[in-house]
Amino acid sequence: MTNPDSGPFGDAAATWNRRFEGDGFLFGIEPNVWLKEHVDAWPAGGRILCVADGEGRNSVWLARQGFVVDAFDIAHVGVAKARRLAAENGVSVNFTVADCDSYPWTESAYDGVAAIFVQFADPALRQRLFRRMAASLRTGGALILQGYTPKQLEYGTGGPPFLSHLYTAEMLRAAFSEMEIVELSEYEANVNEGSGHKGRSALIGMVARRR
Ligand SMILES: C[S@@+](CC[C@H](N)C(=O)[O-])C[C@H]1O[C@@H](n2cnc3c(N)ncnc32)[C@H](O)[C@@H]1O
Repeated sequence: MTNPDSGPFGDAAATWNRRFEGDGFLFGIEPNVWLKEHVDAWPAGGRILCVADGEGRNSVWLARQGFVVDAFDIAHVGVAKARRLAAENGVSVNFTVADCDSYPWTESAYDGVAAIFVQFADPALRQRLFRRMAASLRTGGALILQGYTPKQLEYGTGGPPFLSHLYTAEMLRAAFSEMEIVELSEYEANVNEGSGHKGRSALIGMVARRR
C-alpha cells in the first residue's frame, strides 16, 4: 500500500496528485491556525517562502496579508489548484512545482519560511530540508513551523503514521540549535482543516529566528 505521507518510501508526487484530485481542498482554504497566530514574527510586506504548500491555503492567505510569497510543492495538481485560489483571491504568489531536494533554494533571501505539516520527510530528508529552510532565511528572519508529535499516532486524525516522521520539542531544539527558539509548544487542539486534518490532535508549533 502506498501511504500518502510516505515521501521517499513511495511515489510522493503521484500519491499527492491523487489526493488533490477533485474540486475540494483537502486541508481547506483557511490558513493554518499556528501560522495565523504567529505571523507577526514577520515584518509587514516581507518576503516569505512556503515549503510544500499543497493547494495554497497558506501562501494565498499570506499574499492577501501583503507578503511577497514564493511557494513550492511536489504535486502539480495541488499547485494548479493553488494558482486558481490565488487568482480567485486577486493575489499573486510565485508558485513552483518541485520536490524539496530539487527546488532551487536561495540562501539568506527570506524574512520568513512557513513549514506547515511537512512531515512527509523521513529523518535523512528532514535533515536536508531543515538545513535548507534555515539557510534560506536572512539574519533575523523567522521560521514558523507546525507539525504533529508522536502522540498523534493515538489520535490518527492526520499526518503520517510513522513515528520517525513526527516531531518532539527535543528534536526541534537540536535540529535548530543554531537559531533562536522564540516559541516552542507541544499542545493538543481540535483541528478543523478540511477532511485531511480533522479532530483532536497532538501538535507542536515553533517560531525560530536566524541569528
Ligand atoms: C500534509 S500536506 C501539507 C500541505 C500544506 N503545507 C498545508 O498545510 O496545507 C504535505 C504536502 O507535502 C507535499 N510533499 C510531499 N513530499 C514532498 C517533497 N518531497 N517535496 C515537496 N513537497 C512534498 C505534498 O504534495 C503535500 O502538499
